[in-house]
Amino acid sequence: MFIKQLSAFIGIFMLILLVSSASAQLSQILPRGNNTLEKRIDELLSKMTIDEKVGQLAQIDYGAIVTDGKLDLTKAREFIVNKHIGSFLNVQGQEAKIVQDIALNETRLKIPLLLGKDAIHGHALYPNGTVFPMPLGFASSWDESLMEKTAAITAAEMTATGVNWNFAPVFDVARDARWGRIIEGYGEDPYLNYRLGLAQVKGYQGESLSDPNSVIATGKHFVAYSETIGGRDYSPADISMRTLYDIFLPPFKGAVDGGIASIMTSFNEINGDPATGNAELVRKTLKDTWGFDGIVVSDYNSVAMLYHTQFVAKDEMEAAKLAIEAGVDMEMTSQCYLNNLKTLVESGQVSMDLLDDAVKRILRGKFRLGLFDGKKTVIDESKLNTPEYKEVALQAARETLVLLKNEDLLPLDLNTVKRIAVVGPLADDAQNQLGGWTMQQPRENVKTVLDGIKALAGSSVEVVYEKGVNITEADVEGVSSGGGVEDLGLGGSTSNASMDAAINAAKNADVIVAVLGEAANMSSEPNSRAYINLPGRQEEFLKALYATGVPVVLVLINGRPLTIEWAAKNIPSIIEAWFPGQEGGTAVAEAIFGKTNPSGKITVTFPKTIGQVPMWYYHSHQKNWDGQEAYGQRYIDVEDEPLFPFGHGLSYTTFEYSDITIVPTTNSIKVSVSVSNTGKMTGTEIVQLYISDRVASLVPMNKKLYRFRRISLDPGHTRRLTFDINVTELSVLTKDGKRVVEPGDFDVLVGSSSDDSKLLKSSFKL
Ligand code: NOJ
Repeated sequence: MFIKQLSAFIGIFMLILLVSSASAQLSQILPRGNNTLEKRIDELLSKMTIDEKVGQLAQIDYGAIVTDGKLDLTKAREFIVNKHIGSFLNVQGQEAKIVQDIALNETRLKIPLLLGKDAIHGHALYPNGTVFPMPLGFASSWDESLMEKTAAITAAEMTATGVNWNFAPVFDVARDARWGRIIEGYGEDPYLNYRLGLAQVKGYQGESLSDPNSVIATGKHFVAYSETIGGRDYSPADISMRTLYDIFLPPFKGAVDGGIASIMTSFNEINGDPATGNAELVRKTLKDTWGFDGIVVSDYNSVAMLYHTQFVAKDEMEAAKLAIEAGVDMEMTSQCYLNNLKTLVESGQVSMDLLDDAVKRILRGKFRLGLFDGKKTVIDESKLNTPEYKEVALQAARETLVLLKNEDLLPLDLNTVKRIAVVGPLADDAQNQLGGWTMQQPRENVKTVLDGIKALAGSSVEVVYEKGVNITEADVEGVSSGGGVEDLGLGGSTSNASMDAAINAAKNADVIVAVLGEAANMSSEPNSRAYINLPGRQEEFLKALYATGVPVVLVLINGRPLTIEWAAKNIPSIIEAWFPGQEGGTAVAEAIFGKTNPSGKITVTFPKTIGQVPMWYYHSHQKNWDGQEAYGQRYIDVEDEPLFPFGHGLSYTTFEYSDITIVPTTNSIKVSVSVSNTGKMTGTEIVQLYISDRVASLVPMNKKLYRFRRISLDPGHTRRLTFDINVTELSVLTKDGKRVVEPGDFDVLVGSSSDDSKLLKSSFKL
């Protein structure tokens, strides 16, 4: 009941909350109520047999049409011509053209295929595709325009290889560092997720889906997939309505208003109701209330999961009925629809209207892509990884880097450094640096940290390299590829000789660059970790390097916040590079030598210890009982502070904030602030604006991000910034499920991180 009330008003509320100028531009992408389009869809639908309709709802995995590793045309024809399927997963390149040609030339109605792929950080599952940083790392840039640009490149590469449907972006607000898939989204804040994700939607879909380089974007995973139990993948989300509506749904609502053309349901259940069979959330909220008219696709086998994993259906047929009623239009890989929908409709258990609605959505996607209007599949691999794309990948890697700590060591002065020891298992590991959802890429495409340092250090500097230790000491049982290549060389025990060789090389250097972290598939589907420290013997190695007395720069390549408390206390400079993509090593070297100035800010909280997890920056005001510290929400054995807070990231220059002013009008709050570069180097600052409601009818949050802006400033320069916040954005969910703006006092906090000590404060009254 509560969900129903919420669904009714959330449309209005979220519309106001999330329709920004960015989404307004996107409204051009999908013209609503386009009569001609709808007429064409109806006309085609009227010619279709029930088998042809049911077939459209099936997406078949590449594995099902392959024999001995090669496309098997008999199997492909069986699905396309005899079963009339609407889509394949993971068919690309020349094979995409072959299957598309079969659909266009050999089927009765010549309905083209949707060809889907996961290109979440570039077309990385294609050989020689451009590989950008993994999303959680790239989110540290807070750079919407660069995010849009990389997405547009990804779309261009996808279309050049026959793929027209991307399973990205990932709108999972992720708050548990143990969860392997935390790397695939934009972090713990819903507003930032919405803004960055929508920028990528815009890049994938372009001005119009019918443009030659546009693909359909997919918002996933709908919904609350990231609200795990203990960080385990696929675990149930047992959450309050307030959390669901305030944290998890907003990014999807923003994407829908911005014109996203498909949404994927998630594997998890929400309060006991699996997302893929969840009529309240999919059919009522997403489709009826929000007015989403695109395609809802299930996740991989998640329709079948309804009976074989989640037990809300007793067999395939019941699973098919549940999913179609819930509003899932296309079934990914399992074949419950293909095998059962005809019977369900013919026996009257599922109405023809329901089937037609699903078919129309798939046809609508195909029409919008221009597939019925002569858009050709032209495979042209020369369009991949062009010099221009490499340059954008380099810029993305630069902006991904976060300077977590710096005590008088960076940038290195090449006039004084004569010998650099580059050590660690990720210093020259071209594949792991790329992250998950990546194929084996040509070695020459990837710049490792060792490559970057060698290229930039110059001939007067000697660069020595020793791996030292492995990433882990043993292969982790059951680690899956996470959508990429299988063997990423996780383990095997480190020999003492290897460690000694690295320590000896380091002893004679002026500076050590230690590149440590995780393998790509340690942070991916379904690879969660119970410990989030540096795996294997890496911390022991780091301590031995530190003991040499030679200054150490620690570069981290990893997919989640790591518990690096010892390093944060002892190592003078730490760069978080995440999985920075193909140009990551060059970007790291540039930052180390001061050719660029790091500007990234983390979008997830780094805990001190695993016991603090899950941990995120916004929490209820009520931190202790009656002002008594000892009776607070805290531990007795660790301070209640993160190691690095959300929004943290240093620069080689310094920024100062001053003169905050607030002008409330009837409908909006105008906040102005001055930001000055008080250091000696040009730098980019990511200005963050948080608001805190002092008193509300339900316990208010301490603070929430409302706005941000990236600005570049030369030394000695000041800029005055103004932010407009609509008062409706300050509304809260009340006990009876209503969304209202409650009068009272609000604090505005502006600064360089969510850490209160870095925030300038002012307040206003509503
Ligand atoms: C399962 C993943 O959860 C989803 O994100 C992905 O799009 C599909 N597999 C297809 O690869």
